[in-house]
Amino acid sequence: MTASHFTENTIQEIRDRADIVDLISSYLPLKRSGVNHLGLCPFHAEKTPSFNVNAARQFFHCFGCGVGGDVFSFLMRMEGLSFPEAVRRLADRVGVDIPDEKATPEEERRREERERLLRITEVACEFYHRMLLEEPEGAAGRRYLRQRGFEGDMVRQFRLGFAPDRWRALAEHLAGKGFDPKWARDVLGLIRSREGREDYDLFRGRLLFPIEDSRGRVVAFGGRVLDDTLPKYINSAESPIYHKGQILYGLYQAREAMRRSGEAIVVEGYFDHLALYRAGFTNVVATCGTALTPDHARLLKRYCQRLLLLFDQDKAGRKAAFRAMDVLLPEAISVSMVDLEEGEDPDSFLARHGAEAMRNRMASARPGLQVFIEACMENYGPSIEGKARAAEEILGKLKLLPGAIERDLYLKELARTTGVDEVLLKSRLGRSSGQIVEPRQPVDRPRAVQAKVPKTVKSAGQKAQEYLLHLMKADEAWCRKAAEVTPDLLFANPDCRAVAESLIACRERGLEFDQGLFSEVLSEPQKCLLSGIIIKDDQILADDPAQIFDDCLKAVGKERLKIRYQQLQDLIRQADAENDAEQLAAWQREAVEVLMKIKRPN
Ligand code: UTP
Ligand code: MN
Repeated sequence: MTASHFTENTIQEIRDRADIVDLISSYLPLKRSGVNHLGLCPFHAEKTPSFNVNAARQFFHCFGCGVGGDVFSFLMRMEGLSFPEAVRRLADRVGVDIPDEKATPEEERRREERERLLRITEVACEFYHRMLLEEPEGAAGRRYLRQRGFEGDMVRQFRLGFAPDRWRALAEHLAGKGFDPKWARDVLGLIRSREGREDYDLFRGRLLFPIEDSRGRVVAFGGRVLDDTLPKYINSAESPIYHKGQILYGLYQAREAMRRSGEAIVVEGYFDHLALYRAGFTNVVATCGTALTPDHARLLKRYCQRLLLLFDQDKAGRKAAFRAMDVLLPEAISVSMVDLEEGEDPDSFLARHGAEAMRNRMASARPGLQVFIEACMENYGPSIEGKARAAEEILGKLKLLPGAIERDLYLKELARTTGVDEVLLKSRLGRSSGQIVEPRQPVDRPRAVQAKVPKTVKSAGQKAQEYLLHLMKADEAWCRKAAEVTPDLLFANPDCRAVAESLIACRERGLEFDQGLFSEVLSEPQKCLLSGIIIKDDQILADDPAQIFDDCLKAVGKERLKIRYQQLQDLIRQADAENDAEQLAAWQREAVEVLMKIKRPN
């Protein structure tokens, strides 16, 4: 699905009917302050309000973390939606009918099927939940949960259930509600068939965890036995509404806390999840027995930038954590790991040591890569051969890092711990990877972009570029001048360049600058930048604009040098591999010169 799924008219009509102050007020309190409304930013933790909503121009911007945009941007961030999803949600809210112009009969059939399946899982969930809460048959489940310390609110909030120890409890309940058994049987797998006899329930005598999607709709169940019988857990089958590689248990309840803290805690088990949530760590999700997938990583990235992996403290748990890094690192999600005692899981740790001790452990979580480096070194031992093998394995992880700087830092660290020459490590990194993995943009959700980590330090070059954008907004003459020089030469940062182009285009067509916020031309990060520029007070522009202009030109020059430096690194590696000493020396000379220019203060 793309934005073009909707007509311009539809989008415009939704925009006209929706009011941004009204929409945002339904999520957080806003106070009027001059032309703007002010509130505490929902996208980062803050104590004094820096979240601005402009009613007249229908956009928002946070001075604290820099996010901004229009009604759709807000919903996308707030609810973790894609653009089409945000459009539908808002259309629903303001009562605009969206004709499903492009849905083919096949798509329509699939949508209907999904809705039917969701109704069935919902009814099943209610049934099991009622069993656990009130029915005599649920007594065993209640007792078990009480023993493990869970009652009341937690049970209700997560809609835990109990499957009676009967063969056809759910089958009969669903039949009584008029559902054709084939859906629960052939598609959802909640009911099974056997030769020559009646169908029977999959879950019998088990405590049930309803697994919800990110909108809180039940899509599957996990069920635990109440004793030591094996298998300990069974889970409902994959189905059109449940792909386990795309669902995280507890995400629906954790979203808000994840967004506020910028961080999620990832655990392996249902009970670990419940125990952490109860102890106040509400930004927790569970993988539930499956390895973390790239889809999981992208899903998490819609809500936060950092993950705390809190896996079981055994071989399998550590291995799972290191494997999780393989999908998290390419997405530029920062990963830390928490150490508990050997053999513990988060649930048992909390039971034994309490929330405060857990908080302390979390505070001393260490970067996943560092833990991995140490584990490899220890695993392969201190012999030369051992170190070499450890280095190889570690390089395999480092090449997943999308950021050159971070990669570099870890290379240094690796060189230090293994005693292997850094240049050699670097050349191996280049060779073994072929290409360095770039952070992937989710294909189907092009605009669901996370807030940047608050308070990133901006380089002087970046500041100059933003200042120049501000100038272009405030003063037509500077906008014209920038257009003459062309944004290409003035803006090293591609986002700044895009915003500059948008400002110029608006000036030329006599449109308000906020048009850029409402069009599909700019990406979400670019809209954040633009909303920040629009909302800025022009009074602060006292400095010397000519100087700013000059700074920008210089910054772009430096950026070019940096790109050349990167190219030279590749050329050096290549010459080295081909044993071409003369060429190697030439490239190295140029690299040194370029580096000096980069380092030279303006
Ligand atoms: P664990 O065996 O660690 O269970 O499996 P647990 O969550 O700690 O449960 P308790 O504390 O023993 O009651 C971790 C997760 O792996 C999945 C479940 O999602 C479980 O929560 N799993 C485990 C299965 O799917 N099937 C199994 O047979 C076992
Ligand atoms: Mn456990």
